[in-house]
Amino acid sequence: MYLLGIDVGTSGVKAVLIDSGGQVRASASESYPLHTPKPLWAEQNPDDWWNATCKALQTLLATSGVAPEAIRGVGLSGQMHGSVFLDERGEVIRPALLWCDQRTAEECAWMTERVGEAKVLQTTLNPVLTGFQAGKILWLRNHEPSAYARLCQVLLPKDYIRYRLTGEYATEVSDASGTALFDVPQRDWAYEILDTLELPREWFPKVYESPEVTGRVHAQASQATGLAEGTPVVGGGGDQAAGAVGTGVVREGIASVALGTSGVVFAHLNEPRVDPQYRTHTFCHAVPGAWHVMGVMLMAGGALQWYHDTFAPDTPYETLIEESATVPSGAEGLMCLPYLSGERTPYPDPNARGAFVGMTLAHKRAHFTRAVLEAVACGLRDSLEILKAVGLPLAELRLTGGGARSALWRQIIANTFGQAVHTLTAEEGPAYGVALLAGVGTGVWRSVPEACEQTLQIAERTEPEPHLVQAYEQVYIRYRQLYPTLKPLF
Ligand code: XUL
Repeated sequence: MYLLGIDVGTSGVKAVLIDSGGQVRASASESYPLHTPKPLWAEQNPDDWWNATCKALQTLLATSGVAPEAIRGVGLSGQMHGSVFLDERGEVIRPALLWCDQRTAEECAWMTERVGEAKVLQTTLNPVLTGFQAGKILWLRNHEPSAYARLCQVLLPKDYIRYRLTGEYATEVSDASGTALFDVPQRDWAYEILDTLELPREWFPKVYESPEVTGRVHAQASQATGLAEGTPVVGGGGDQAAGAVGTGVVREGIASVALGTSGVVFAHLNEPRVDPQYRTHTFCHAVPGAWHVMGVMLMAGGALQWYHDTFAPDTPYETLIEESATVPSGAEGLMCLPYLSGERTPYPDPNARGAFVGMTLAHKRAHFTRAVLEAVACGLRDSLEILKAVGLPLAELRLTGGGARSALWRQIIANTFGQAVHTLTAEEGPAYGVALLAGVGTGVWRSVPEACEQTLQIAERTEPEPHLVQAYEQVYIRYRQLYPTLKPLF
């Protein structure tokens, strides 16, 4: 008996097959392009997600040798907040606007004014941010009226894959929380807000708890993917909540630090709680009846990727990082601000920009690489400090995502936090988390915490280096001054 998790990410889709002991039997990935037709715009074609998903599943099934009928359930995860626009026949109207697209500042301001800030905060527990889905729908109304006139259904990215797999329009609470149209305490659509904005209620899919079965793979999808017809598909989760499940962040006291394209510090909540300044997001968790709070920096691994692609495309990441290990902590005064796509936490500012500050003739490429690694660690610490101020006991930090594979980056993060970070044996991220949810939804485990207890194991613990913690404290103090100082220039 196997469980399948699919994560529709920003750079590609990843499918992971696990057994009932949580062992990874096989995984497969396929990438697709990200389009930036204008600065700060970010779009993808939902068909690219689907084609990549079909290919990844075919590869996965072929390489694993597992019979499709042995897969007991499927869980879906994906990049959050994006907006897939469908017409009455379920056809995609235009490319999807993504989480890191920053074009909607005017629409977000208008929505906040129209609904009333107090109502927005009380209902959605978050300010209306440019990345969130609501502004994207309003943008379509304002800027592409003929496309808007055809609109009949709005989906989040992973829920488009659900639609292609099962024919059902459905979502689940963790991802729906990131639309700015969701009543997060009540775990349902914010119907009054939809009405105020004149967005028809029927455009929004049915909401489930994350482990619940939302539909079954239909015949056509079975042909396209190789999955067995009738395989149950559970709600799954937005990539952050799903990743947290895959990391065991399913009770208070444990937090995760996810170093993917974005960088996220995530903690479980038994009750909805907010940062009084709303610099972090409070959303429903993929654990039924629980919530979570998270700080999101938009470009973490994404900043390193941009740096690599722009300045050293022919040098492997490993070489760049090794090189940077030869430079002392603090990069001899070279500092970086990694806000390459605006920022969310701690500054919800679409106009924030990146910077390198403090260059001298003595600085080499290694310093620049190191400055990027340290800047991301500082940006993550910003989120950690806010969560601590909310009063959460963050005794154990679990580091995940592609960046967690770098021993140097792990060490820089532990030193910057002044706290140990742990990695897990299964490093498959959100896809793994939703495979666990599929197990809960199909009766393999009784609850999400039980699934985590029976499958996850700590692999490694990285302690802060006591003699360097002070030096990193100084780096952080200087980093904290960068954004306020440069803001007038952005
Ligand atoms: C979370 C967020 C990103 C995206 C892309 O709020 O915006 O993590 O989900 O991965």
